[in-house]
Amino acid sequence: MYMENYQKPMLPSDSLEGRSILITGGGTGLGKSMAAYFLALGAQVLICGRRIEVLETTAKELHERTGGKIVYKSCDIRHYEQVEELIAFGVESLGKIDGLVNNAAGNFLSPTERLSHRAFDSVVDIVLKGAYNCSLALGKYWIEQKIPASVLNIVTTYAWTGSAYVVPSACGKAGVLALTRSLAVEWAKYGIRSNAIAPGPFPTPGAWDRLFPKEFMDQIDIPSKIPVGRVGHHQELANLAAYLMSDFSAYVNGEVITIDGGEWMKNGGEFTWVGEMIPPEMWDAVEALIRNKSKKQ
Ligand code: HXC
Ligand code: NAP
Repeated sequence: MYMENYQKPMLPSDSLEGRSILITGGGTGLGKSMAAYFLALGAQVLICGRRIEVLETTAKELHERTGGKIVYKSCDIRHYEQVEELIAFGVESLGKIDGLVNNAAGNFLSPTERLSHRAFDSVVDIVLKGAYNCSLALGKYWIEQKIPASVLNIVTTYAWTGSAYVVPSACGKAGVLALTRSLAVEWAKYGIRSNAIAPGPFPTPGAWDRLFPKEFMDQIDIPSKIPVGRVGHHQELANLAAYLMSDFSAYVNGEVITIDGGEWMKNGGEFTWVGEMIPPEMWDAVEALIRNKSKKQ
């Protein structure tokens, strides 16, 4: 089968040899794709989520596919004690943990005024509290044990633009971006790097069912919102994530890398509409008009 280069694994096959990485929400979607690639690059992986049967199925599938060591534990990352138990389990099973991918998230489309305060809490607690619970508990362990480590936070582009109709997620992701940049400075002296990836649309059932439900989103053409004209491929995100977790990126710290085909700039750009409203054959007339109007009087 023909594959474009961006669909292919990018790094040398031993790039994560000797590393042990916790991926929150690693049982599904992008977390699962990152887990698969990290295992292929020689890392040991711990995945967590709330649904044990999902974790079990994923761990079995990825072990069979890659031969790598993958362990799992059910954990609701909103609860600090559960995170501490998760880390104790990971250290016992893998010998150590020296990487963290804060990937778990909660989200759904809703006008903000329809949300209960519990709905708002639910999303912010998964996204922001979950990320700082894991970062704090692992940070204490790394600093005490003198273990150099790498943290990767999965945010999204509306962490800095904000977005209507996903306000709890936008608030949570903005907080996670601040966490990324703050700890990048504070913990660099311990050998702990922090970076973030801001993906645009990458099809996963978790995101699509809650944000682009097929039943009423059929009319929305997502690729047309993206300058490169397509959605993301999981391997290209896994390639970037593996690079940021590996020593190849040792001098990259406090960075957020956007991987969205140019989507957020297109939607935020003042004159994006020009490309859609003015066909090429009209440009001679438009140019003549502008030159005429802007002539020095
Ligand atoms: C309004 C809703 C709601 C909805 C739930 N609630 N769904 N309110 N509209 N669609 C309310 C509930 O009524 C309840 O409030 C409160 O939210 C908590 O709901 P629970 O079901 O008890 O919460 P919980 O079991 O913790 O589930 C969390 C969840 C759920 C976020 C609601 O969707 C979830 O588990 N999501 C995890 C996976 C996920 O969301 N993946 C997508 C990530 S995509 P009351 O007042 O009734 O008690 C992503 C992409 C971003 O982040 C960028 C894309 C381009
Ligand atoms: P997903 O498959 O729904 O992944 C979310 C994962 O988080 C699930 O495995 C879920 O497992 C876990 N999770 C949720 N709440 C949890 C909790 N309280 N404790 C522990 N685990 C919890 O969605 P995805 O699309 O792969 O998203 C992955 C990441 O990419 C998220 O950070 C998301 O914001 C980001 N992102 C995605 C897109 C996209 O287009 N897909 C775009 C931008 C950013 P359980 O339900 O079993 O707990």
